[in-house]
Amino acid sequence: MAENFPLKDIVARRLGENYDLHERYVNRTLVSVLRTIGFDKIYARAEGCYLYDKKGDAYLDFLSGYGVYNIGRNHPVIKQTIRDLLDLDLPNMVQMDCALLSGLLAEKVSTLMGHGLDSCFFGNSGTEVNEAAIKFARAYTGRPRMISLKGSYHGLSYGSLTLTQNVNFQEGFGPLLPGVVHIELGDLAALEAELAKKDVAGFIVEPIQGKGVHFVDGDYWPKARELCRKYGTMFIADEVQTGMGRTGKMWCYQHWGLDPDIVTFAKALSGGYAPAACIVTRRDIYQGVYSRMDRAVVHSSTFGRNNMAMACGLATFHIMEQDKLVENSATQGEKLMARIRELQKKHELIKEVRGKGCMIAIEFQKPSSFLLRQAWKIFDQVDKGLFPQMIVHGLMHDEHVLTQVAGHNMDVIKLLPPLTISDKEIDLFVAALDRVLDRCSSPIGPMWTFGMNLAKHAVAAKKARSESAKA
Ligand SMILES: Cc1ncc(COP(=O)(O)O)c(C=O)c1O
Repeated sequence: MAENFPLKDIVARRLGENYDLHERYVNRTLVSVLRTIGFDKIYARAEGCYLYDKKGDAYLDFLSGYGVYNIGRNHPVIKQTIRDLLDLDLPNMVQMDCALLSGLLAEKVSTLMGHGLDSCFFGNSGTEVNEAAIKFARAYTGRPRMISLKGSYHGLSYGSLTLTQNVNFQEGFGPLLPGVVHIELGDLAALEAELAKKDVAGFIVEPIQGKGVHFVDGDYWPKARELCRKYGTMFIADEVQTGMGRTGKMWCYQHWGLDPDIVTFAKALSGGYAPAACIVTRRDIYQGVYSRMDRAVVHSSTFGRNNMAMACGLATFHIMEQDKLVENSATQGEKLMARIRELQKKHELIKEVRGKGCMIAIEFQKPSSFLLRQAWKIFDQVDKGLFPQMIVHGLMHDEHVLTQVAGHNMDVIKLLPPLTISDKEIDLFVAALDRVLDRCSSPIGPMWTFGMNLAKHAVAAKKARSESAKA
């Protein structure tokens, strides 16, 4: 019998080697990026809205693992659920059985969705369930094509990567899936022109786009949904990021009273402890895939219904309900946006604050002072994403706040705090942003020096790319 595995000793002994190990054995390009932008921290512990380094210094986490930690990190109820699950010694992934926990989670999801969306398939990641959505839509409609939106992000495996309209992610990986078109968000005429060909299986949308936090209010979504119904195309809501309370409703499509044919969600489902994802649809659509006895496992995934993910999923919904996190997301998100908008009066660099719930974008604009304009112009010419990177760096380096640039070629940063944020975290963030923008208001000083260094890196990278293209 093997002796106990000394995990705690190993972590205590080797914590600090993280970046060297990744440099050697994992993604050394990511290591370079993290070192360049000052994100190469060694975190030792995490709790709620905070990460802590070895010295015990706290970092406010407004990134939430790209939207995974809706309930905050290392939630005690999830930890206890995992301990209880381990104590039960349940049979896991027997595969040729129907396990209780996946049945219970599917029951829960179906009650939360409504609109007859009562049939679930569990997978491991957002991209995997979006692949499933393409297959479900094709199998049910018997049609080949898919429509998605310009600026969208649906994942990086081949089907989802094709739906993702972003050359930065697609470059070097073609050919992609045939039969996919990307149309403008908000353009109903373009949508109808494609749908009218009656060969479109599905129209997949993020109700609020993750890249840049773009969305349209008004009647665009209800009309787009109706057009899909008219032409027999599946209306698919990708709620991988926007789902589970992120935008102040349990599901983002509820902001517009929509009834999608298919919904996918992932990220926050397991409270951050196990890969987990879900596609939910109506029974008739589901049976379009599992249509005969010999097709009973025609779409499956070995770890999809594993007990750890399912138990954590059940516990996550329990926490969200008990702690009223959807409501908290709506009220605290509004408060946070209002407080940042107040900063607009003082900081002309802030162009717009937009979002719903705790999915928020801050867009920046060219300053009016001559010297700052020149610095901004240099950034813009080198790479449009450099200015927000400077803000993200400033927030991290000087203020210990984690945020992210909202996408390629945009002057936008994105905030995805845990839905548990209180007034304290809002105060901390707003004060930190205020100070960072103060430091940006003079073209001399460490922030712009850092920005110029980033610009130099970007120029060198561009040069290397064009030389390797010539070779
Ligand atoms: C809207 C959306 N869809 C799909 C994905 C892909 O999810 P995953 O990274 O779990 O494959 C993401 C990830 O950020 C996302 O935001």
